[in-house]
Amino acid sequence: MTLPVDAAAARYRPGGRFAEGFARGKMASDPAYAAVLERLPPAGLVADLGCGEGYLLALARAVRPDLDLWGLDHDPRRVAAGQRALAGEPRLALLAGDARDAALPRAALIACLDVLHYMAPAEQDALLGRLAGALAPGGLLLVRDGESGAGWRSTLLRWSEQFAVALGRHRGDGVFFRPAAAPCAALEAHGLAVEVLPCREGTPFANVLFLGRKPEAT
Ligand SMILES: C[S@@+](CC[C@H](N)C(=O)[O-])C[C@H]1O[C@@H](n2cnc3c(N)ncnc32)[C@H](O)[C@@H]1O
Repeated sequence: MTLPVDAAAARYRPGGRFAEGFARGKMASDPAYAAVLERLPPAGLVADLGCGEGYLLALARAVRPDLDLWGLDHDPRRVAAGQRALAGEPRLALLAGDARDAALPRAALIACLDVLHYMAPAEQDALLGRLAGALAPGGLLLVRDGESGAGWRSTLLRWSEQFAVALGRHRGDGVFFRPAAAPCAALEAHGLAVEVLPCREGTPFANVLFLGRKPEAT
């Protein structure tokens, strides 16, 4: 899928040339965005938990003006940057808050990209349960995160994230990567049918995508 990177990144121009360039580079290089956009629902609300500056929402808006979009992040600087970029956009809300306790809207699709590992394992499982609970019947949850136990790719990812947290680039309680089986088990325990796909094209990191489908109402 060809992403509308130029149109989406141009929204970040008011934040300066670096902000726009960074957005363009991230949107063009991260395979998680295409993985989500390829699976957008026919209707309903798309939620992005830990949305950062809202890059996924900007891309989703560029391809699907009809969808309701909702994003949440606990870093006020990132939320402010996203709100500036997406200001005035109808049917879109970008809020500051913690995914672990914020009220979540009912959603046809929920994305949560590279967020889980900033919280301890028990909190990861609790968050996955909240996300499963917020999904509408038939809805899809897309969680991308790194896995431990995948050799040097896992090691490199852990070092890179520890460095980013130490520098203050990402806020979190620490860095907690787990084997892919752990999030799978948590999602299955909440009734989702789970598939795991690699999601690291173009990067050296041990990233995987968890797809959790909620059953249709009976
Ligand atoms: C690596 S960034 C990924 C941003 C975005 N998902 C993306 O892929 O472009 C991780 C984001 O998760 C956010 N985050 C971490 N823990 C969070 C929490 N408990 N509640 C809300 N946001 C959180 C961070 O502030 C950061 O913006």
